[in-house]
Amino acid sequence: MATMADVARSADVSVATVSHVLNGTRPVLPHTRQAVLDAVEELGCTPNTLARSLVTSRTRSIGLAVSAISNPYFTEILRGVEAAALEHGYSLLIADPHDDPVHERKVAQLLHERRVDGMIVAPSARPRELLAHLGRHRVPAVFLDRLVDASEAGDAPRFDQVGAQSAEPTAHLVTHLAALGHRRIALVAGLPGLSTTTERITGYRHGLAAAGLPYDERILVHGGSSPAGAERATAGLLTLGSRPTALVTADNAMTIGAPRALRTHGLSVPGDIALCCFDDFAWADLFSPRLTAVAQPSRDIGARAVRVLLDRLAHPDRPARTERLPCAFVHRNSCGCPEEPRRPARPDLP
Ligand code: HPA
Repeated sequence: MATMADVARSADVSVATVSHVLNGTRPVLPHTRQAVLDAVEELGCTPNTLARSLVTSRTRSIGLAVSAISNPYFTEILRGVEAAALEHGYSLLIADPHDDPVHERKVAQLLHERRVDGMIVAPSARPRELLAHLGRHRVPAVFLDRLVDASEAGDAPRFDQVGAQSAEPTAHLVTHLAALGHRRIALVAGLPGLSTTTERITGYRHGLAAAGLPYDERILVHGGSSPAGAERATAGLLTLGSRPTALVTADNAMTIGAPRALRTHGLSVPGDIALCCFDDFAWADLFSPRLTAVAQPSRDIGARAVRVLLDRLAHPDRPARTERLPCAFVHRNSCGCPEEPRRPARPDLP
């Protein structure tokens, strides 16, 4: 295999110059830089990232820790992270902490031991140990999707955060159903403790208030962000004396479980009960009826998290920031609206 000395000889420069070009450790004149890159190409060299990291203390790798990686929402986030990382010459180390606080801290430790330059983490509902670990070791990190309440961070430095809006889009689903005449609109909420769950509940209540509807705690049920949990919670709703006429499911996993309960009770959508869901997914318009949903900009969330992390690496002392990306209202007909083919497929929320 060709060495740095071979490249230096071929480009007629010093080994130090080759090193500066390859590691970006010092500016090099454009024509000299090009001569080095041409020699690298000609000799068929592959950079040795491990050797390079000894010089730069950077590994050009990012650790990504997200739970439920098989959930299409997170898979799309992963695609966004991967594409943006590749574009900037970074590779990924991926782990699934299974939404478990202990596992999550271990994963952060392992990624840190592999000397990733920074981490992108979708934190669990109890991220105290994770925060303490990242803070103690001063790991550059961006939180993704589930945002951490500043009070959770205690004395740890604040972290950058990137996630979609949750409250406003949920309120929009509720007001849309209310405008269709529904007066008892239920929410199947997600895993307790996650910021996305809390914000969607807040949005639900804002939507009810905006529509002039009372809040009834009996029709806010918890589906635990799982199909089975949502099926149980929805079945509970259907045994109430005055059962809801419309249902909002707060994430895609629960949009699998809730309709199972409706089917068991012989109810059809939207004739017997209207259904709107948070999260769009590729086959949401194959359901009959087609699902009215809120689409999160999953891929953009992933890509944005990478950019924020790289910005953090370049400016370690800048203040932490939280970026919120807007969702889109995907108007189909499980809400009870007739098909409107001329409507744009994914109009942005107001
Ligand atoms: N957060 C936000 N949206 C989601 C999630 C989540 O954990 N799961 C499915 N959609």
